[in-house]
Amino acid sequence: MTAEPLIRAEGLGLSLPDRGARAGRLGFGAPPLLDILQDIDLTVGAGESVGLVGESGSGKTSLGRTLMRLYRPTAGRLTFEDRDITGLGEGALRPLRADMQFIFQDPQSSLNPRARIGEILSQPLHAFGRAKGRRDAWAQASALLERVGLPPSFAGRYPHELSGGQRQRVGIARAIALKPRLVVADEVVSGLDVSSQAQILALLNELKRDLGLALVFISHDLSVVRVLCDRVVVLRHGRIVEEGTCEGVFAAPGDPYTQELLAAIPLPEVQPGWIFDDARGAADQVDGASAGGSGGAR
Ligand SMILES: Nc1ncnc2c1ncn2[C@@H]1O[C@H](COP(=O)(O)OP(=O)(O)OP(=O)(O)O)[C@@H](O)[C@H]1O
Ligand SMILES: [Mg+2]
Repeated sequence: MTAEPLIRAEGLGLSLPDRGARAGRLGFGAPPLLDILQDIDLTVGAGESVGLVGESGSGKTSLGRTLMRLYRPTAGRLTFEDRDITGLGEGALRPLRADMQFIFQDPQSSLNPRARIGEILSQPLHAFGRAKGRRDAWAQASALLERVGLPPSFAGRYPHELSGGQRQRVGIARAIALKPRLVVADEVVSGLDVSSQAQILALLNELKRDLGLALVFISHDLSVVRVLCDRVVVLRHGRIVEEGTCEGVFAAPGDPYTQELLAAIPLPEVQPGWIFDDARGAADQVDGASAGGSGGAR
């Protein structure tokens, strides 16, 4: 990959207190530490998309969170644009927070149910001084909604008044509000039906291209990673067992575990162009239907 390294992990490790053990120890002494991630060497280039795959509990979410410094690594080194961020405190990290955004699996629980969509999207703009007052924030929120294929009038709605796919678009709009360099998307299509999945993938693909985002795309679904990502990283028990271009790994998986993962999933021979063209057509239809009538999704 020729892209400039945006984020780089070298020998990264993460150990966390064993939650199970804590309960069993009746609160005496420090709980033992569990090795969650070990020896992770990973570079994500500017504008590059990397899929993180592996079975449940392999450490995908933990790695995504550590790369964004939502966890402090307990070993190794983490750099963002050549700046060592391994041990930075929250104050020093704060300006960087705008550059790294997380999209959650379940927008239902990550969007404040009592805030209107316009307020949800305005909040980071205010927090990072990116809006000149309320009106400007609201106008930017409307533009963000359009950017993710939702009508600007949705700014006045509450999260529960949207469908799952529409809520995920809001989650994406919130993530790109501050024009980040890196987005970590954690199982963002898992809870959606197949046609919404295709639409969200098409949108992510478009944003990645237009905004030059680096994308760390976490998914247990290898066929999804294949259409969206340049590279794939396979995790097992908190370690990287295989890494390479999607093309290379899917054509000839080197590690037995990767072969197993591939065999476990019925992998349709889907061409990226096919899924994205198809999804775009479907997106037009669905958005047209829900956006047109004022009562569409209520
Ligand atoms: N805060 C925590 N404290 C202690 N252990 C944790 C914590 N978070 C995760 N773990 C453990 O770390 C391991 C990796 O968890 P993680 O959530 O990163 O896996 P995952 O690959 O994202 O799994 P899934 O596909 O189910 O989302 C698991 O064994 C989990 O129980
Ligand atoms: Mg996870």
